[in-house]
Amino acid sequence: MSILQLESFSTKYKTLLEEYLQKTINRLQAPQVLKEAMQYSLEAGGKRIRPLLLFATLHAFQKNPEIGLNSAAAIEMIHTYSLIHDDLPSMDNDDLRRGKPTNHKVFGEANAILAGDALLTYSFQLIVETPGIEAEAKLELVRLIAQSSGAEGMVAGQVADMLGEEKELSLEELEYIHVHKTGKMLTGSVLAGAILAGVNEEKRNWLKQFSYHLGLAFQIRDDLLDVDGDEAVIGKPVGSDEGNHKTTYPALLGINGAKAELMKQIQLAKDFLLKLDEDTQILEEITDLVENRNY
Ligand code: IPE
Ligand code: IPE
Ligand code: MG
Ligand code: MG
Ligand code: MG
Repeated sequence: MSILQLESFSTKYKTLLEEYLQKTINRLQAPQVLKEAMQYSLEAGGKRIRPLLLFATLHAFQKNPEIGLNSAAAIEMIHTYSLIHDDLPSMDNDDLRRGKPTNHKVFGEANAILAGDALLTYSFQLIVETPGIEAEAKLELVRLIAQSSGAEGMVAGQVADMLGEEKELSLEELEYIHVHKTGKMLTGSVLAGAILAGVNEEKRNWLKQFSYHLGLAFQIRDDLLDVDGDEAVIGKPVGSDEGNHKTTYPALLGINGAKAELMKQIQLAKDFLLKLDEDTQILEEITDLVENRNY
């Protein structure tokens, strides 16, 4: 059994990311309230799992994770915008996020919507401004991240999630929601690392399959935490899904059925990781974290 690597890796690269995010918002020539609203949700913390996946993929292919800083920040900004909008009264109507009052509770709905818009658009500027990489790679990154977050990705999942309220969904429909609203951004994070590392098609495909199952597992765990998590630990309300009449894995399969599906998806994710002969230990440790996390 090798020594665990994720903890020190994660401390190092989270610090790098968080300093970069702060500096990057500070430099904007924009209304103060907008900068504050963007900063408020970004610096509220969060696990930073998407940036960590990107950095860990670069590490696996023996590239310096720092070359992924702009892309990782861009992805975290898009993710943060998706949380701000997800919490709005017209969506999940939640009051707590990352352990703090939600963005619209502090800045009002209009500013929360606009802070989300600004985070989304700024993210693409950051990718284009990445130092030291070819224009071709930037184009690939822009397309990947737009597809992962937009109408074929996270937004599609959010729409399907809304349409699914108040009605019974099949397991197949639920899988579509989870793979899109959550999985696509996780896959995008891994594949962004693969683009920056110049990974070949075959290995990219394995990474894609790995992150497909990881993304599904991540949202099943999220659904479980919405039922049996501790609000003080997860930093968001427990019972939100039931209150919004969402179909979730625990609602459809029961707690034990959802846990079994979670374990199945984790195993499938690991099977694809095993196909790679690179050093994927940190990616594997992230996979274990997705299975066992309590926040
Ligand atoms: C929450 O994402 C929303 C989902 C896609 C499940 P995270 O659980 O990654 O939230 P943070 O970033 O750690 O706050
Ligand atoms: C939302 O799923 C996924 C996003 C794209 C934000 P949830 O609505 O379950 O996420 P939480 O539980 O509010 O973080
Ligand atoms: Mg939601
Ligand atoms: Mg929500
Ligand atoms: Mg949830």
